[in-house]
Amino acid sequence: MKKTLPFLLLLLLIHPLHADEGMWIPLLLGKNEAAMQKAGMKITAKDIYDINNACLKDAVILFNQGCTGEYVSDEGLFLTNHHCGYYYIVSNSTVEHNYLTNGFWAMNREQEIPCKGLTATRLVYMEDVTDEVLQDVCDQQPEADRQRLIDMHIATLCAEKVNGTHYKAVIKPFYYGNQYFLYVNEVFTDVRLVGAPPSNIGKFGGDTDNWMWPRHTGDFSMFRVYADKDNKPAPYSKDNVPYKPLKHLTISLKGVNEGDFTFVFGYPGTTQRYVTSDAVDLAANVENPIRIALRDIRLKHYNEAMNSSPALRLKYASRVASIANGWKKWQGESIGIRRVDGVAQKKAFEADFRQWANNRPDYKEVLPQLHQAYERLKPVEVEWTWFNEAVMASDLMNAYYKLYRMVQNGELKSGKLATEATVDALFQKTLKFEASETDKAIFVETMLCMWRNGFAPYLDKKQHSEAEVTRFLNDIYDNAWMNKPEKLKKLVLKCFDKTPEDAFKLLRKDHAMDLFAVAYGYAYTTAKREQYTSSKQEIDKLMRTYVKGMMEMMPDSNFFPDANLTLRVTYGHVAGFRPKDGVWYQPYSTLEGIMQKENPDIYDYVVEPKLKQLYEAKDYGRYANAKGELPVGFIATNHTTGGNSGSPVLNAEGQLIGINFDRCWEGTMSDLLFDPDYCRNISLDIRYCLFIIDKFAGAGHLVNEMTIVK
Ligand code: ARG
Ligand code: GLU
Repeated sequence: MKKTLPFLLLLLLIHPLHADEGMWIPLLLGKNEAAMQKAGMKITAKDIYDINNACLKDAVILFNQGCTGEYVSDEGLFLTNHHCGYYYIVSNSTVEHNYLTNGFWAMNREQEIPCKGLTATRLVYMEDVTDEVLQDVCDQQPEADRQRLIDMHIATLCAEKVNGTHYKAVIKPFYYGNQYFLYVNEVFTDVRLVGAPPSNIGKFGGDTDNWMWPRHTGDFSMFRVYADKDNKPAPYSKDNVPYKPLKHLTISLKGVNEGDFTFVFGYPGTTQRYVTSDAVDLAANVENPIRIALRDIRLKHYNEAMNSSPALRLKYASRVASIANGWKKWQGESIGIRRVDGVAQKKAFEADFRQWANNRPDYKEVLPQLHQAYERLKPVEVEWTWFNEAVMASDLMNAYYKLYRMVQNGELKSGKLATEATVDALFQKTLKFEASETDKAIFVETMLCMWRNGFAPYLDKKQHSEAEVTRFLNDIYDNAWMNKPEKLKKLVLKCFDKTPEDAFKLLRKDHAMDLFAVAYGYAYTTAKREQYTSSKQEIDKLMRTYVKGMMEMMPDSNFFPDANLTLRVTYGHVAGFRPKDGVWYQPYSTLEGIMQKENPDIYDYVVEPKLKQLYEAKDYGRYANAKGELPVGFIATNHTTGGNSGSPVLNAEGQLIGINFDRCWEGTMSDLLFDPDYCRNISLDIRYCLFIIDKFAGAGHLVNEMTIVK
């Protein structure tokens, strides 16, 4: 059925939030309980979060500061994504023991690998501390004073709440500072790598399949938390013992069918659900296109290099993964926003708000003021996007940036011995730069693109035609003193103990340094920085009022607070979708699809011989579905975002059925606007995960630790 715009708008006005949209606060889940049960949930809000009893929240951890994990045994064993454990898999690999390529399975506890720096954080309890934080705070105070008072209250409260315990406290703002919650956490620091599949399972499909459905990635890895003999966090020690979690998840092999209720329990990082039409327009129609166009250039050159040699593939693999991750997500986001006419939707809501606010002095001016603040922010934000994605695209300019910052911060001064050895060390450790054809091509092309679009007017001072600018940029790269370190080192040696001004005078003999300094000085003038900071602060302050107004305007709506890397529950149901005309996406994928994608010539699509054998013998054991297929992934309408990676995906009974690891490309706009027709999270089916551990890797002893129901 074709929905007409007025119908959509009407829906939006009546229901500012869509069913399935929302990332809910565990402490307040009582408010969602009825809706969740109506949607199919068979457990209670208290089973999920309960301050007095062990509950599901005790099985969920924050993995470092950006992913989620879940306990699956009473001996501290937990699951997360392969891409979350990536760093620890890679950094423990050597050419002889290449765990990235071949996978890693600890066959006993002694083989588990300590991961320095890795933390696993359990939420002990949370509490609404709005009144304490906002005590004596009022809107008439200057914003800076107001914030100082708030920060003071936060520091005092945090110290008080964990006094005499081994816990750590944080307080975070919600709804742009209309509400504050305290989180008391237990942070474990002895975490060990237990298992990871080979890359061609854990990252099957690579960046080509990233953000896409149908998906066949076995995106999981396993770790174990160790504690002291009292079950408390302790730094790594061989005397530590496996941690006994208060709760670990029960795994269900029943799987899911279209329409089944599921929920995701984890740590979503950032969303911007309540921003205005100006913010959506800026992100989707202005910033994303700039970033995408400039990353096109970078990716083109890196991919060429990677395809030309295995050594270059290794060299560029991880940076390309991260450049490509954002590049692809923003494309999906902008297309999605345009498809639903997101800017118009926001404008329609704003018109309604203005009408409501018309006779309410507290709110009457907020939208016009927000608009003005965005008008001030926009030019600097756009300029900085160009600078960061173009000037900072090359290794060359990055090296100069580091040198520039050092001079600016006075690091080449006071007490530091200005000997050739120190300068040598500086060049080896911090400024290490290697010129390459790839880097040069990226430098020339991104800067040229910036010039063509009028964002590098300083390039026009001496050069007038595109050919001249191109020649100039080529010369700069070829003659950069970073390429002639002996020359540059001598110059740097002279900069010690000079004022930054004098040092720059010297350094600018190097024309590449001069170009960087001009570009930086152009984008980051004091006035522009002031414009950026003050408009951002103004926006934050106005958003606080705007969101408060929205809540008053629609007192019966349950508004979810934007994601802020705190524990949330999001729920929905297993559902396929129509990504484009004539295409219907089924909600689950199977091993069959891996065989269909197999391509021995493409690194990311190689299928392990062992996996093929199991496929040919249909040796799926108890992990097959009722049709005899081996399920690999599924999609559902849960509202997730970055940080939810590794989150447990649970069924109506609260049993583990999958691990969240991605979102469908067509719905990546859900950080700004949720469209129930397109927004889907992507999960690894727990049966594929267990199949890989058990049947593929022969690490059945790990599966034996788990609690599994059929
Ligand atoms: N898109 C996923 C997330 O945002 C997975 C990224 C890692 N995988 C990759 N192929 N780069 O973070
Ligand atoms: N892959 C993302 C992560 O690392 C999850 C995908 C998303 O953005 O929803 O958190």
